[in-house]
Amino acid sequence: MSGFGAIAAPLPAGEPRLARPSAPTLDAAIAAMGSEADHRAAIAFFTDYRRRSLMFPPDLALLYRLVLWRRAKSVLEIGSYFGGTTEMLARALLAAGGGSLAAVDPWGEPMFGRTLAEWPEPLRRQVTFFPLTSMDFFISCRAAEPRFDLVLIDGNHDYEFVLHDLTMTARHAAAGAVVVLDDCDQAGVFHAARDFLAVHPGWHEAGGAMARWDRARPLASMGPSLAGTKMLVLEAPSAPTLGERPLSLALAVEGTGLKGIELELVPDHGGGAIEALAVLRAFPHDADRLRPEQRQALVRAEIGRGQALAWLGLAPPLALAMREADTARRELEILLSWSGEPVRLAAPPMPHWSK
Ligand SMILES: C[S@@+](CC[C@H](N)C(=O)[O-])C[C@H]1O[C@@H](n2cnc3c(N)ncnc32)[C@H](O)[C@@H]1O
Repeated sequence: MSGFGAIAAPLPAGEPRLARPSAPTLDAAIAAMGSEADHRAAIAFFTDYRRRSLMFPPDLALLYRLVLWRRAKSVLEIGSYFGGTTEMLARALLAAGGGSLAAVDPWGEPMFGRTLAEWPEPLRRQVTFFPLTSMDFFISCRAAEPRFDLVLIDGNHDYEFVLHDLTMTARHAAAGAVVVLDDCDQAGVFHAARDFLAVHPGWHEAGGAMARWDRARPLASMGPSLAGTKMLVLEAPSAPTLGERPLSLALAVEGTGLKGIELELVPDHGGGAIEALAVLRAFPHDADRLRPEQRQALVRAEIGRGQALAWLGLAPPLALAMREADTARRELEILLSWSGEPVRLAAPPMPHWSK
């Protein structure tokens, strides 16, 4: 680790002052990047960063410009190591107008805390460091349910860990979020991304790495989204997307009986059937006297091609028996599954309650 004495070196002077990539879609932005003068300028600027970041300048340049393109306000980095890439992400956030950056790494304060202390105040203000594994971090997110505009997954590169990071990232991804995986030349990273995309409708890889992958050469044909980098770039759907695998949504409980759920769909679909499972749960104040309660109801509706509104009625209304005075917490989970080609929700499901 002696080579990392260099992290005490002063920050590179000056910002790259790069324009936001103007392409309207992520795919177009990635396609244009390699040949843009601003991209070459970013690579030149980040050449010095290698002492603190494990990434190569083309990877840093791609990440920096993706933060600008996405106009990200909320960024998550899983695996921050000595914080060199974190510092670059904080710079990009500042250049994009400022925001918050959660840096997660179980190695903890001795390494990252020292790095943070060396930064200028405006950079430091963007960042919160979590000395946790990504799993513990996501568990700690459960109360606030944050949404991230851009996530860098660069922690443990084993398949199972990357798949976990991706799955939990999907749960906390803002609409149209950009997710970057580093080291896609490692099989765990590439194949976790491939498997993730296969079961997450509406998500896609921008840049064509998955299309270039060849089943007959499963290791040799693993490649990046942008040539010259080691990164895969994924994009979240612009709205929650329904497919076969049930989508689970947590909604507020605002009455005693659930009469039904109203759904608004983006009407560009070919029709299908929706199955919805509504689950009401109540947890008592006094766990010695009362047990938690769970009630659920299943409902199905056929949806015609292009139909925008769907009503999933529950008769009689789904209700809990636990008295309000005994209840510490109530929750409603809606699981939605769809039989046709993936369809997007135009708005969050709207539960209707009887008072
Ligand atoms: C490849 S390094 C990250 C490099 C850093 N992003 C950079 O560009 O300089 C991987 C980091 O992931 C961290 N790590 C390992 N397992 C992890 C986990 N389960 N959750 C979060 N971070 C993890 C390691 O401590 C290590 O610092």
